Amino acid sequence: MSNIKGGVGKTTSELNLVACLAPNISTLLVDLDPQGACALSIGVDSDELDQTVYEVLLRKCTPREAILSTPFGFDLLPSNIELSKAEIALVNMVMREYVIGAGRFRRSSTSTTWFCSIHSHRSGC
Ligand SMILES: Nc1ncnc2c1ncn2[C@@H]1O[C@H](COP(=O)(O)OP(=O)(O)O)[C@@H](O)[C@H]1O
Ligand SMILES: [Mg+2]
Repeated sequence: MSNIKGGVGKTTSELNLVACLAPNISTLLVDLDPQGACALSIGVDSDELDQTVYEVLLRKCTPREAILSTPFGFDLLPSNIELSKAEIALVNMVMREYVIGAGRFRRSSTSTTWFCSIHSHRSGC
């Protein structure tokens, strides 16, 4: 779910979507918005996190190490303000367009995950 405009209900809609799916489907929410609102919405201060989607993109940790289990049944790969540096940090990486490929998450996270929801403020994500 992506839209460059803020305040249009992306975070609210996506959190409700994954919370509704989670009882029946193993669900992973990937937050690609550096505001970190998905973590905040489940009561986690994203600025306190050392392992987020940013570290995963830079291959400093695995998705499994960064993913949080939430009390609402879905898993969350959180983000924080560090993510805003990713575009520059990845500029020299070969095939960087594929660094967040769903296959990588499936291999590294739980083998039963089969709904992967990606949350972004970038319309071109
Ligand atoms: N369907 C809705 N009806 C009324 N208010 C909503 C609805 N969806 C979201 N909001 C409110 O709109 C504001 C922005 O929503 P948010 O999900 O944070 O947007 P975004 O992630 O696109 O910036 C929040 O205060 C939220 O509570
Ligand atoms: Mg939002």
